[in-house]
Amino acid sequence: MTRNFFLHIHSPRVHKYSLQPRYTLGLGVMAGFLFLILLVTGALLMLYYTPSVERAYASVKDIIFVVPGGKIIRNLHRWAGHAMVLAVFLHVLRVFYTASYLNGRRLNWIIGVVLLVVTLGLSFSGYLLPWDQLAYWAIMIGSNIAASFRELTDALGITSLFDIGGLIKKLLLGGETVGQAALSRFFLLHVVFLPITMLVLLGVHFWRIRKDGGLSRPFNADEIIAQKEALTSKNTNDKADIQNSQKKEQKVWAWPAALWGELAVLMLTLAVLLCIATFFDAPLREQANPALPENPAKSPWYFLGIQELVSHSAFAGGILVPLGLLAFLISIPFKDREKKNIGLWFSGPAGIKIFLLSMLFAFISTTILLFITIRFGWLRDWLTDIPQLFIIVVNPATIITLLYAVWSLIIARRTQSSRQAAIALFTCVMTGYILFTIVGVYFRGPNWDFYWLKSMWPVQ
Ligand code: HEM
Repeated sequence: MTRNFFLHIHSPRVHKYSLQPRYTLGLGVMAGFLFLILLVTGALLMLYYTPSVERAYASVKDIIFVVPGGKIIRNLHRWAGHAMVLAVFLHVLRVFYTASYLNGRRLNWIIGVVLLVVTLGLSFSGYLLPWDQLAYWAIMIGSNIAASFRELTDALGITSLFDIGGLIKKLLLGGETVGQAALSRFFLLHVVFLPITMLVLLGVHFWRIRKDGGLSRPFNADEIIAQKEALTSKNTNDKADIQNSQKKEQKVWAWPAALWGELAVLMLTLAVLLCIATFFDAPLREQANPALPENPAKSPWYFLGIQELVSHSAFAGGILVPLGLLAFLISIPFKDREKKNIGLWFSGPAGIKIFLLSMLFAFISTTILLFITIRFGWLRDWLTDIPQLFIIVVNPATIITLLYAVWSLIIARRTQSSRQAAIALFTCVMTGYILFTIVGVYFRGPNWDFYWLKSMWPVQ
C-alpha cells in the first residue's frame, strides 16, 4: 500500500540528476513533511483548544501545563510552522535560481506562488489563536496593514464614499477590532479553509511535476551524470564505456531510489525539530488585553520587512509593494523566455557574477536608504504640512523598488539577457527583504525607534 501511494505521487522513474541532494536541497520535500507534521500536531492540539475569547488562553495554558505531552506537541506545532515558512522561502529560491519555472512549468510556478500565499496565511491565522498579548497586537498590526488602502482613500478624501480598506479589515476581523468574531474567523481559516486549499493545491503541484516530466534538468543531464559516474568508478580510463553510458537515459526506479533520499530528509527534519521543541518553548505571554498596547507591537518575522516599510506609508509599504512583488513573481516565467541553462544553479558562472553584484548593489543601496531614514527621518519630519499623497508616491518603499528596477534594466541592457535581468531583480528583492526583516526583528524598539540593543530600550 505504501509503495502504491508513493508511486501515485512520483513518476515511476526519476532522473539521477534530480536525485542529487545539492540540486533540490530536499527543500520541497521538507516543506511537504513540515506540513504533514503541522496537520498531525494541529489535530492533536484541537482536542483541547477552545476558540473562544474567554477560554482560548486558558485552554492553551492547560495544553502546556496539564495535558500530558501537550507542551511538546505545541512546541512542535509552533516551530514547524516557522520552519515551513522558511523551507518554502528557500524552496522558491532554489526553483528560481535553477530556472525551474520554464519548459512547461509556468503553471506549476504560479500554483507555487499561491502556495506561498496560503503558507503565509496559515501561519498568520494561527498566530492569533493563543490569545496572548503577542498574538493580539501582532494581528492588530497585520489587520491595520491590510486596511491601509485607507491611507490612499483618506488622502484623496473619498473614504466616506469608498472605504475599501475598512471593508478588508471588516472581512478579516468581523468588526473594527480584534475580538470574538476575529478569533472565530482566524480559527476557521486556520483549521478548515487554508489547510484544505493547501492540500488540494499540493495535489495539483505534485501532479504537475509528473506531467512536466519530473524535475527540471539541463538538456545534457544524461551526459553530466555519465561523466560524474565515470569519474567516481574504478575503471575511469575505459572511454568506450563512458561513451556508451552517455547515450543511455540516466533514469532509475523511483522506488526505492527517491524513497531513500526522502526518508533521509524526513528523519533529519524530524530530528532537528524534536531537538528544538525539546529545548525551546514556544512563547506565551500574558492574556490578550485590548487596553494595554504592546510597544513595540511586532507582526510575525516574515512580515516585519513589510512592517518596516509601512512605517512611512502604510499603503505603499503594505499594499503596493507586496502586490507588486506578487505580480513580479507571477510574471517571471513570462518575461524569461530563454531556453538555455535550465536546471543549472544561477544559469552558470555569468549568473553567479550577476547574483553577487546584485546582492552588493542591493546591500549598499538599502543600507544607505535605511541610514537616511533612521538618522534623519523622512519627508513628514522635514516638512510637516506636506500632502500625504506625495509621501505615498515618494517614500523608502517606492524609492527602493525604483532603484532595484533600474539596476535590473541596466543588467538587461548590458547582458541582453532576460534571465540575467530576472536574477538581478530577484536577488535585489531578496537582499532588501532580508535587510528590512533583520532591522525589524532586532533593531526596532518602542515607537518603532532604532536601538542597537534591546537592553537600550527605555524602561516603560
Ligand atoms: C507549500 C509549499 C510547497 C511544497 C510543499 C512544495 C513541494 C514541492 C516538491 C516536493 C517539489 C519537488 C522537489 C523539489 O523541488 O524540492 C516541488 C517542485 C516545484 N515547486 Fe514546489 N512546493 C511548495 C511551494 C512552492 C512555491 C512557493 C513555488 C514557487 C513560487 C513552487 C514551485 C515549484 C516548481 C516550479 C517545482 C518544479 C521544479 C523543477 O521542476 O525542478 N513550489 N515543490
